[in-house]
Amino acid sequence: MTETVLLVGGGGREHAIARALADDCDLYACASNRNPGIAALADGFEAVGEREAGEIVDYAADVGADLAVVGPESALEAGVADALDDAGVYTFGPRAAQARLETDKAFQRRFMREESIPGCPAFETFEDAESAAKYVESVDDDVAVKPTGLTGGKGVRVTGDQVAHAEAAAYVREADHDEWVVEERLVGEEFTVQAFVADGEVRVTPAIQDHKRAYEGDEGPNTGGMGSYSDTTPTLPFMTGDDYEDAVAVLEAVVDALPEYKGVLYGQFMLGAEGPKVVEFNARFGDPEAMNTLPALETPFLDVLTAARDGDSLPELSFSGDATVCKYAVPAGYPTDPEAGARIEVDEDAAGEAILFYASVDEREDGLYTTTSRSFAVVGLGDSIAAAEGRAESALAAAGEGFHVRHDVGTESLVRRRVDHMAELRGEDD
Ligand code: AMP
Ligand code: GLY
Repeated sequence: MTETVLLVGGGGREHAIARALADDCDLYACASNRNPGIAALADGFEAVGEREAGEIVDYAADVGADLAVVGPESALEAGVADALDDAGVYTFGPRAAQARLETDKAFQRRFMREESIPGCPAFETFEDAESAAKYVESVDDDVAVKPTGLTGGKGVRVTGDQVAHAEAAAYVREADHDEWVVEERLVGEEFTVQAFVADGEVRVTPAIQDHKRAYEGDEGPNTGGMGSYSDTTPTLPFMTGDDYEDAVAVLEAVVDALPEYKGVLYGQFMLGAEGPKVVEFNARFGDPEAMNTLPALETPFLDVLTAARDGDSLPELSFSGDATVCKYAVPAGYPTDPEAGARIEVDEDAAGEAILFYASVDEREDGLYTTTSRSFAVVGLGDSIAAAEGRAESALAAAGEGFHVRHDVGTESLVRRRVDHMAELRGEDD
């Protein structure tokens, strides 16, 4: 029997999910923007906002969906998985109560403390901005300040790195949030490990490094992620196998404490001399990370979804062993002052051997337009990070005018800097 799957969300992550599913099922999708890549793969694409749980349930009923996948965290926060589950459409994505692991950072840290999840930084939570700001002014150690709610990856400020304590306190007072987490500044190299989770089972995928900062050399403001790479093995060049296993143990401990969790569990780790600590959890695939993971996944993603729904053991995952490099093209001015509504040209054919994923663009009758978020990504695969990087870089010929790209993602010099940084932190001479 052919399954009918509903995909919620219209970004690059969801284009990657659509590509992983389209050949194996009848696929329908909905999002507020019309993503031309998803629309081309799906049997139907409806303009329904990601947080409109009622309308999403209606669309699922119209198309006869048996299964759903929710891409964006905003939808999980709005209870879209709850509404679909309750309507009898099994949804690969946590209910809002479990998605709080991502959507409520104070909950996330308290959960880690109460459940003794390894890798929790020292933290304090605050119910009002003034108390948080005063606390930041009172401490000498470097801290990260975070609004507890969702900010698209752009809400965190780190002292000693981006700002001084006084600036961080001023930011807390000016930003329009009441609840804050103030925590120990973690120093090291960041990496992501994502897992498929259902019925207490955890199937992990290879580590990935995202690049949060807007400009080359890790300068500029934080973004949703400008690009990412993975290696031919589950680890990255700056990690040991033990570091990866430590990260996996964290994800397993989370699922032990939250046995009802289902969907993708994403751990963002900071690797320092003492091993990985948890920067955050996300309750869905990373974006861009989904675009690294899914093209290298050989196990049909649909098999993961149906096993989860049917209460069967999740399949053991197999990967192609390709390294992957993903580079995002974003609107000029992103993330602080993105030029939304600009007409853009993307030449798919110019992507050559790489995969082109459309992201937060809107396809209208007269062409393609930017939104305030990332526009499209290219992903190169290869037998080394360098080979994958070369393919991704060549594929950027697809970009017309008006885009910004971090060309340094996945380059040998940047990867070498990561390795040298870790060696320095570990006190190795290299
Ligand atoms: P988040 O919104 O939690 O993903 O945080 C965005 C980015 O802020 C992370 O990817 C890190 O680069 C940085 N960050 C968050 N928490 C910390 C921390 N405790 N120490 C240092 N950097 C952090
Ligand atoms: N790549 C970071 C995120 O998806 O939040």
